[in-house]
Amino acid sequence: MTEQHSSDWLGLSGSVAVVTGGGGGIGRATAVSFARAGARVAALDRDERGLAETKAKLREFGDGHLVASCDTTSEDNVAAAADAVARTLGPSDILVNTAAVLRPGGLDTLPLAEWNAVLAVNLTGYFICAQAFGRQMRQGRTRQSHPRRLDRRQQCAGAERRLQRQQGRCRDALAATRR
Ligand SMILES: NC(=O)c1ccc[n+]([C@@H]2O[C@H](COP(=O)([O-])OP(=O)(O)OC[C@H]3O[C@@H](n4cnc5c(N)ncnc54)[C@H](O)[C@@H]3O)[C@@H](O)[C@H]2O)c1
Repeated sequence: MTEQHSSDWLGLSGSVAVVTGGGGGIGRATAVSFARAGARVAALDRDERGLAETKAKLREFGDGHLVASCDTTSEDNVAAAADAVARTLGPSDILVNTAAVLRPGGLDTLPLAEWNAVLAVNLTGYFICAQAFGRQMRQGRTRQSHPRRLDRRQQCAGAERRLQRQQGRCRDALAATRR
């Protein structure tokens, strides 16, 4: 069983977590939270500058992370990123799709090309990533027997430790009222 970090109440230690849109707001925050919990993180984005910022933040949690340039609308890009993740971190256990675009504006004036551009990232990009990383998850599950059960056991162990700490605090508080 991998070491469990105190901020890892979900039992994510040692998991491989892929975050698309990892060079931006929600994606970067998610990637950093996973790293803090002890996961090995792969942050994917098409924005190289954003990725550089994410890389610097992930480095605070060690070297076992990957940032990779990837356009999630491209099957070839995603396949290459999936290979890089499997080679450097191992098969993915978790996929968070935050890569997305927003085109604000009225429906009546939105050009069809813009609509299609939004669908390409927010729907098709999600589909391509779910397919590529989902395959790794299936393969990982057949290699590792009962990974879910292991996760549950880790979660229970964490919950038990938290309960014991709370009981200790209650005992101390009760003792203080009796003094
Ligand atoms: N921030 C919020 O409060 C909020 C609230 C509700 C919903 N959302 C939605 O959640 C999504 C993410 O929000 P955010 O604030 O993190 O946005 P963001 O723009 O900061 O981050 C999105 C990231 O996705 C990346 N990206 C876009 N297209 C890509 C592609 N084809 N391939 C790879 N990367 C790509 C961008 O480069 C960017 O880094 C957006 O759809 C947003 O509309 C955001």
